[in-house]
Amino acid sequence: MIRRRDHYKLAGRNTFRMDVGCACWIEYDSPEDLSELDLAALPQPVVHVGAGSNLLFTGDFPGTLLHSNIKYYKPVADAEEEVLVEVGAGVVFDDFCAWASDNELWGAENLSGIPGEVGAAAVQNIGAYGAEVKDIIAQVKCFDLEERRIVTFAPAQCAYGYRDSAFKHAPLKGRQVVLGVLFRLSKALRPRLDYGPLKTAFAQAAPAHPVEVRQLILQIRASKLPDPALIGSAGSFFKNPVVSQETYDHVVAVACAAVAEASPEGRLQARAGREERCDDREAPAGKRSVGRNPLGVQGDGKEGATLVAPHFDLPGGQVKIPAAWLIEQCGLKGARLGEAAVYDKQPLVIVNATGTARPADILALEKTVIDAVRDKFGIEFHPEVEHIGPDPETPKKI
Ligand code: EPU
Repeated sequence: MIRRRDHYKLAGRNTFRMDVGCACWIEYDSPEDLSELDLAALPQPVVHVGAGSNLLFTGDFPGTLLHSNIKYYKPVADAEEEVLVEVGAGVVFDDFCAWASDNELWGAENLSGIPGEVGAAAVQNIGAYGAEVKDIIAQVKCFDLEERRIVTFAPAQCAYGYRDSAFKHAPLKGRQVVLGVLFRLSKALRPRLDYGPLKTAFAQAAPAHPVEVRQLILQIRASKLPDPALIGSAGSFFKNPVVSQETYDHVVAVACAAVAEASPEGRLQARAGREERCDDREAPAGKRSVGRNPLGVQGDGKEGATLVAPHFDLPGGQVKIPAAWLIEQCGLKGARLGEAAVYDKQPLVIVNATGTARPADILALEKTVIDAVRDKFGIEFHPEVEHIGPDPETPKKI
């Protein structure tokens, strides 16, 4: 069935809770519904959305928003060690995580609690706590809006990267609509405990059931991230920047200079250095080597101690720096601008502080953060959150 609503209010359809609207909202229940739609006859542009958990509406949307209500779990293969299950694009992703864990299937538990739906998860390659959804994707089934037929994509064709996939770029963007995702889950015990707090929590006794990992992840998320039921946000607002070794060294030098300026002790301590040690960051690939504290001071604090900026060495000599740390170094942790704020427990998240923030409030704070990080460290931030609004060119990244 197709449900069409004109002049539709979107406050309940975006986790930032922006009080905006769209000219037309269409929800469909099946691939057949989608194939029947005459897209050209709808208000333009036509854009597909999920749960709105990674979107910032910058104003009223003049076109049509499509939303999938395709919900199913279809077991496709059941072998000794693994199962393949196809899940409809409209299923709430965390419902799938709960289902997998409850059925003692490993693979989705680290991704517990991420807001959003299965289709968008496959487009965005969501990730957290040492795992990315691409790790368990065996195939993505789409409806090709141009050829009007169902097509499937093997993982390699999806070109997955950090919060990225081929579905976010031409020629697939706007053309392929995800109908369902085939997940490969493990019946065999396969916990992924690279993320520091998981490793620590299970140091004495390894988890025997994915529900144990899921529960811990949900606890960690609750302690760091705003509760979507209480505070509007879209999770991480920016991507963690990947920079050259040279830029990283510059970041360390700037941070050291700031410490030296702040206190006489700092002057003694401010010897830039890099030290490799394990940390609690997400580990998409490569070797983790990050300081635990903001500019963690190694040694006893006397002369000779070194300062370590959190970082993560990537293959090819590049370095990923936690955006949260850079924002904190700019003094913006907890900063408030209008009705928007940088979340005080995790500065990578921008929140609708009062519940009544307008798009302009969020955009102003976004600009403030981008400008501050550029001015201080010479690093250009890129939003992870997709901007969607009145500009006919939307959705686009700025
Ligand atoms: N940090 C600070 N100050 C803070 C918080 C963090 O300096 O107040 C630094 C610390 O060095 C910390 C590091 O930032 O070790 C990393 O923090 P965290 O583990 O919270 O992860 P993140 O890199 O900030 C990423 C994802 C999150 C995901 C977490 C956990 C991105 C853009 N974000 O955040 O994903 O939950 O890892 O794995 O990659 C999301 O995408 O919406 C999201 C929340």
